[in-house]
Amino acid sequence: MKRFIPTEYANGIHDIDVKGLKDKGIKLIMLDIDNTLAPSSKKAPSASTVNWIANAKKMGLEVVLFSNNSKKRVNFFNKQLNLYTIHRALKPLAYNFIKIAKRFDVGIDEICMIGDQIFTDVWGANNAGVMSILVLPLSADEGIDIRFKRFFENRVIKKNKPETYCLIGNPVAHSKSPILHEQVYKFYGIKAKYMLCHAEKENLRQILLQFKKTGVKGFNITVPFKHDIMPYLHEISADAKKIGSVNTVSINDGNWTGYNTDVTGFAMQLKSNNTVIKGSRVKIIGAGGSTAAIVYAVLSEGAASVTVYNRTMDKARQLALKFDGVVAAALDEFNAKDCDILINTTSVGLYPQIDKSPVSDLEGISQSAIVYDIIYNPPETRFMKIAKERGCQAYNGLDMLIFQGLAADEIWFGKKIINDELIQQIREVIGN
Ligand code: ATR
Repeated sequence: MKRFIPTEYANGIHDIDVKGLKDKGIKLIMLDIDNTLAPSSKKAPSASTVNWIANAKKMGLEVVLFSNNSKKRVNFFNKQLNLYTIHRALKPLAYNFIKIAKRFDVGIDEICMIGDQIFTDVWGANNAGVMSILVLPLSADEGIDIRFKRFFENRVIKKNKPETYCLIGNPVAHSKSPILHEQVYKFYGIKAKYMLCHAEKENLRQILLQFKKTGVKGFNITVPFKHDIMPYLHEISADAKKIGSVNTVSINDGNWTGYNTDVTGFAMQLKSNNTVIKGSRVKIIGAGGSTAAIVYAVLSEGAASVTVYNRTMDKARQLALKFDGVVAAALDEFNAKDCDILINTTSVGLYPQIDKSPVSDLEGISQSAIVYDIIYNPPETRFMKIAKERGCQAYNGLDMLIFQGLAADEIWFGKKIINDELIQQIREVIGN
């Protein structure tokens, strides 16, 4: 069985830590083409694939196309890339792997094969003693012979791949979620892996299908797919339905359920700071992707009033229409008076624009008002500084991120995960 187990798994080429490979001593990557770099039906690589390859080369790695397909297919695909190629590579035989090592004068242990098939790419790499990374096939558009092989491949993957959770989104490369969840697994001794999954809208369906076939137990979903995921789910929690956005999916016996743990995450963050929500007057700046979850959270915890200020008034109005008792206002009309909790949900002040704030002043704010910014990079935003200068307590969005992640783990593992010591460890590993 060992010969069918890749060294590593990745959801797609964009989720591979190329720098990490280089640091491990890899000097050359061999790339399968069909369903690894492009769906079999696409004659040429996409712009993002071209960029990915250019980036790997910029890092000083040799890149070779290594395909079992015909000379015509490989040469056409390579037109723009201009890479060294091997067609009819005879995978899983070791012969051409060795040939590449000799041709580029690199050691067998300095090569990494990246491909989507176990019985060609992975087996071949193992036969040659080369590192391998198995990615999900980019499309289901495959010949009958390959589909037949996939049936066995998926069984092998289900048996050998560690229990996997993922984050689907675009972009996801810089997400802190893997660090957060891996810390949870370490803390509780859970044998699981959390992986990134860069998706394009057109391959979302195929990714979900592969998750199903290979036994993924759950995943988070982020921008821009929090709404797009909904038609694929069997059940959706009441809060996620109301907000129109899902960030967590659990898969149980083929049953897919969607949740929104941003709601729970925000409520938990406020409670952990002893911020009283019940009866509070809440003002929110921004009406973007994360605002609805925050509005839902404060309303369900009994806020007395919620006013949403946004630069684009229409978006604030749309949001207010979804909830009873929410008032929409233009950002120009913002004032910080008569407010117990003030929250910035805009992206203004996010790194690198750290000197910016959605409002220049918080004149009239009560010193007892508690101020939140959902941004956590930088740890103290300009907005938070202005609030502190007015004598208010101000918190960044790191705890919201942590709590939404832990709430997802509680759903997946069906047990209490949230723990003060763990939260402190996560804060230390992901910043602040
Ligand atoms: P989206 O709206 O696509 O979900 P987001 O990053 O979640 O994107 O939200 C961005 C929020 O920051 C919005 O409320 C946006 O205001 P608009 O709706 O008017 O675009 C707000 N925002 C971004 N840049 C801003 C700026 N320079 N000044 C004020 N608000 C800004």
